[in-house]
Amino acid sequence: MISLEDIKSNPVPNHIAIIMDGNGRWAKQRQQQRIDGHIQGASALKNTLEGCLAAGVKYLTVYAFSLENWNRSPLEVEGLMDLFVRYCHTEVDNLNKNNIRFRAIGKLDMLNDECYQTLRITEQKTEQNSALTLTIAISYGSRWEIVNAAQQLAKEVEAHQIKSEQIDERLFTNYLMTDFMPDPDLLIRTSGEYRISNYLLWQIAYTELYFTDVLWPDFTKEELYKAIADFQRRERRFGKTSEQIKDTAK
Ligand code: IPE
Ligand code: IPE
Ligand code: MG
Repeated sequence: MISLEDIKSNPVPNHIAIIMDGNGRWAKQRQQQRIDGHIQGASALKNTLEGCLAAGVKYLTVYAFSLENWNRSPLEVEGLMDLFVRYCHTEVDNLNKNNIRFRAIGKLDMLNDECYQTLRITEQKTEQNSALTLTIAISYGSRWEIVNAAQQLAKEVEAHQIKSEQIDERLFTNYLMTDFMPDPDLLIRTSGEYRISNYLLWQIAYTELYFTDVLWPDFTKEELYKAIADFQRRERRFGKTSEQIKDTAK
């Protein structure tokens, strides 16, 4: 078993992104409703957040609801919206106690009023915190995010606020919803699926990917530490050769 001490003896990823998948299957295995899987998933998120905080991870960005998830049954969608609201209400004091900043990203204008307001209030109540930034991607889709950025830039070019030649990778990044965070170092997907499902496509250009068969509600701190230990064994080359990386480390 990998302990927190093992993890902390090596550089820890600054930013971990997670596709929290497998809640429905977890519930089905127990003859429960899908929403029961989501409720248990929220508790797995609490444990993971604690683990990240203890390990010294600075950014945790989790995929809670995709734009495509709007196509699920109204019962499941409403259950999830209620769960997001409840999570904020029950966790806000804990977030403040642990110096955690809360952010929400996605096409938030599609959310109902209560959910939208609760997310915004939770952001405001925690905005001064600095130990870790927890970002929840809700009603989020990466292609939408990129198109949205392109649209904003086009408007500014039309209004002569910027010149098209000024658009480079760095400027473009400022128009994404993730402008306040660095790119993820490690992306974890649970439940044995090997796909990205429209998550942070731009941001994961050089992210290390980790897949596990564990269903999200069963994900524990130990599973998190296992993923971090796996990450720590890898060599990130960013297009260079292994020798070049070792030379610069000297
Ligand atoms: C992930 O679990 C949570 C959401 C997408 C909201 P799923 O609900 O996708 O669970 P599975 O994939 O059906 O098991
Ligand atoms: C991705 O899971 C979205 C979230 C975890 C919120 P899905 O279960 O919706 O993804 P697909 O449909 O299997 O690709
Ligand atoms: Mg799924």
